Amino acid sequence: MSGQVGNGGDPVVRTEGVHKIYHLGKVAVEALRGVDLVIEGGEYVAIMGPSGSGKSTLMHIIGCLDSPTAGEYWLDGQPVSELRGRRLARIRNRKVGFVFQNFNLLPRVDIVENTALPLRYSGGLGRGERRRRAIAVLDQLGLGDRLRHKPDELSGGQRQRVAIARALVNNPSMLLADEPTGNLDSGTSKEILKIFRDLHDRGHTILIVTHDPNVAAEADRVVKIGDGRVEA
Ligand SMILES: Nc1ncnc2c1ncn2[C@@H]1O[C@H](COP(=O)(O)OP(=O)(O)OP(=O)(O)O)[C@@H](O)[C@H]1O
Ligand SMILES: [Mg+2]
Repeated sequence: MSGQVGNGGDPVVRTEGVHKIYHLGKVAVEALRGVDLVIEGGEYVAIMGPSGSGKSTLMHIIGCLDSPTAGEYWLDGQPVSELRGRRLARIRNRKVGFVFQNFNLLPRVDIVENTALPLRYSGGLGRGERRRRAIAVLDQLGLGDRLRHKPDELSGGQRQRVAIARALVNNPSMLLADEPTGNLDSGTSKEILKIFRDLHDRGHTILIVTHDPNVAAEADRVVKIGDGRVEA
């Protein structure tokens, strides 16, 4: 879980004029209307804004889960806005760790398999080594005594820690979290925020979407999104 500091001085994230238009039948929804954003290696940034303002859409593009309709995006200095399909998925797997509000864990397999999943996608490591790495990250997150549990045999906070372990196992350039404490009580939220704080202290780049001012207060910088744009 060593920290990452970007790539030869390039910002981790740089977007210019990013637009995203969703087409639903004949209706076009302009979710992003020209987003310019720079995030340097090691920054801890909170994204805030009203419901429907485009926060998740922006996270999906930054996280290479989706592509902009127009505009440019460089991830660690590499242009990715033109990439689609498997080429985009490969970058995502190498560079991005994602944590979601509802954990998104696989219900049928234990937390070691859940955590090791990104290593399976990236290939190159045998099963034993994948498990060893997954267990090492789970240990650091305090789950060493729950390795054989499946997600529904854990508390919400423990599930989110598994999701964080899975996000970290590939040692990504950045950690993206969309309302990671949205389904947790306040005590458990604090526990998860402490983990993000520790990761930040070790040099990880963290981008977190939140409605909660207490969560945003943890970050070094707040980026406000309104109606598909970054507000000044
Ligand atoms: N897959 C989709 N197809 C069509 N429209 C979409 C899609 N995803 C999002 N939208 C629309 O894009 C806009 C931005 O949505 P987005 O999910 O990014 O908002 P958000 O800021 O994350 O909101 P919330 O705080 O409620 O999560 C909304 O108007 C939404 O209805
Ligand atoms: Mg959202």
